[in-house]
Amino acid sequence: MTQSPSATAHPGLFISFEGGDGVGKTTQIRILADLLTAADVDHILTREPGGTELGVEIRRLLLHGGHVAPRAEALLYAADRAHHIATRVRPALERGAVVLADRYLDSSVAYQGAARSLGPQEVRDLSLWATEGLLPDLTILLDGDPGLAERRTTGRGAKDRLEQEGDAFRVALRQQFLTLAQAEPERFVVVDADRSVDQVADDVIEAAVAAVRRRGAHLAHGGAHQGVLLGLEAFVETAARRRAAGSGEEAGS
Ligand SMILES: Nc1ncnc2c1ncn2[C@@H]1O[C@H](COP(=O)(O)OP(=O)(O)O)[C@@H](O)[C@H]1O
Ligand SMILES: [Mg+2]
Repeated sequence: MTQSPSATAHPGLFISFEGGDGVGKTTQIRILADLLTAADVDHILTREPGGTELGVEIRRLLLHGGHVAPRAEALLYAADRAHHIATRVRPALERGAVVLADRYLDSSVAYQGAARSLGPQEVRDLSLWATEGLLPDLTILLDGDPGLAERRTTGRGAKDRLEQEGDAFRVALRQQFLTLAQAEPERFVVVDADRSVDQVADDVIEAAVAAVRRRGAHLAHGGAHQGVLLGLEAFVETAARRRAAGSGEEAGS
């Protein structure tokens, strides 16, 4: 029993995207969201920190303030998460929506636990306390060479505090994420992010389709939630059409 009962008690589908800065999380979430929109599937996009009004304030404190003590930082992330899960994510999951989260608890464990020398298990426990045990149904780890991700992000504006930290940090972070993925292979799908946007999207969509199928079987078993099932079926068909149209074909490199 690695999943808490609350993780599967809802009819919706909770998908989180993880990985360091610049690996392509936002890009891939947009592609998946566009497919869900095309299939007319109820979904929300949310990011951490900053998914709510309170979260925006917390994000400002965390990223653009001065030094933040590690435990204060962990508690601020947990506070944002508690509010965001209770007010946005749970209601969406309970009505049967797909939730696409740009980072979730694995980022806290990887960033705080590894790089900031708090114990990974206590950071994870704090987050699970804050969210009443909510784990994603699927976590997509975009894994790529930290140097490449760094070059992708250099076109952006002023670097925030986390982005200013060095290469050793990014290498350690990547390893932390991979260790988390290895510990929970039933929840994680690791996608090689050092490829074209379309190639990465093929794998992301395939993982989402597999999660939809698992959820479909689960819901069919329970008998209820017919509307949610039909919506998810439409998504699977839209994803298949995208593949047939060849938008994800090995184009060059
Ligand atoms: N597979 C890819 N190949 C090349 N560039 C990419 C790829 N994925 C994303 N990018 C570009 O890299 C930058 C960072 O991507 P983004 O999706 O914002 O990453 P993240 O949200 O993980 O920080 C953006 O400019 C984006 O257009
Ligand atoms: Mg992003």
